[in-house]
Amino acid sequence: MSGSLAASNLSVRYETPGGSVHALRHVDIEAHPGEVIGIVGESGCGKSTLVTAMANLLPANARIDGSISWNGIELAKLDAHRQRLLRGDEIALVSQDPMTAFNPVLTIGDQLVDFQHHRKDLGRAEKRARIAAMLGRVGISDAERRMHSYPHELSGGMRQRVAIAAALLTDPGLLIADEPTTALDVTMEAQIIHLLRELRRDYNGIIVIVSHHLGVIAELCDRVYVMYAGEVVESGEVDAIFHDATHPYTQALLACDPARFQQKLDRLPTIPGMLPNLTQPPCGCVYAPRCDRVLASCGTVAPPLVELSASHVARCHAVSS
Ligand SMILES: Nc1ncnc2c1ncn2[C@@H]1O[C@H](COP(=O)(O)OP(=O)(O)OP(=O)(O)O)[C@@H](O)[C@H]1O
Ligand SMILES: [Mg+2]
Repeated sequence: MSGSLAASNLSVRYETPGGSVHALRHVDIEAHPGEVIGIVGESGCGKSTLVTAMANLLPANARIDGSISWNGIELAKLDAHRQRLLRGDEIALVSQDPMTAFNPVLTIGDQLVDFQHHRKDLGRAEKRARIAAMLGRVGISDAERRMHSYPHELSGGMRQRVAIAAALLTDPGLLIADEPTTALDVTMEAQIIHLLRELRRDYNGIIVIVSHHLGVIAELCDRVYVMYAGEVVESGEVDAIFHDATHPYTQALLACDPARFQQKLDRLPTIPGMLPNLTQPPCGCVYAPRCDRVLASCGTVAPPLVELSASHVARCHAVSS
């Protein structure tokens, strides 16, 4: 089923004994059927928080403000039953650690049958046939044998592919892959990228991909959101972000991309400084303490959203001046 996704002024904080962690602040996002959306940013910037909010799977200590909707339906306001139904067949999240998606004591086949619990129209044999076909589609050739395996008997790459197959079995209108390649070696990574590229071709729902690997994002996505310290600091079409990056953070992130360096470096370049403490986010611009183009106003006044083109925006004082 296809639909549209929209987050508007979305904020998420986690209540912890050490205080409220402001993991997401005033995020606006939209995605339409057929689009592949990329989300990038350093570790701890809120990428997983954002996609977990999209799947309505935030942990109990999370508090949401603002709006996140699927096909115009406000996700946070759904009752538990409708939430389960919606997750069952419209929104699927392949989480950062695919091991968490599986029950260690059940075979892959039994679990993939369970994943189709909402398909009351299908019998067990039909569900198993769908599974075999889907495993083949994600590049697992000996599907029948694999269905008898337990999760720990699969390699990391294989588990990741089974997790994607599990998600696809529900025919989701929104497929979210959180760091689909980060835990994998180079060969496995290439296989997953190949799979996502194939999917991109014949899938008409929305795909959201979170990745540290800018090359993966550049190759697969139509539009990119760049996150820093819980905020979207720049967003635009993939070409605008990779060839015409405007926010100093996006520029720094691209400059540090390991793929840019032909020779193997002893130490990869990193952006100097650290993420701010998210229990007390800085007022003004969140990136100001690390920014090489900082102005007097950056420390005190929240930066405006600057429209660089109809689809390319950046939140920055230096860009607006
Ligand atoms: N359940 C939780 N309780 C408290 N704080 C949390 C929780 N989950 C995440 N956080 C905090 O929220 C912030 C954003 O985390 P998140 O996992 O969304 O970042 P990320 O961009 O996905 O990072 P990574 O690239 O390492 O996966 C971090 O400061 C993190 O420590
Ligand atoms: Mg994450």
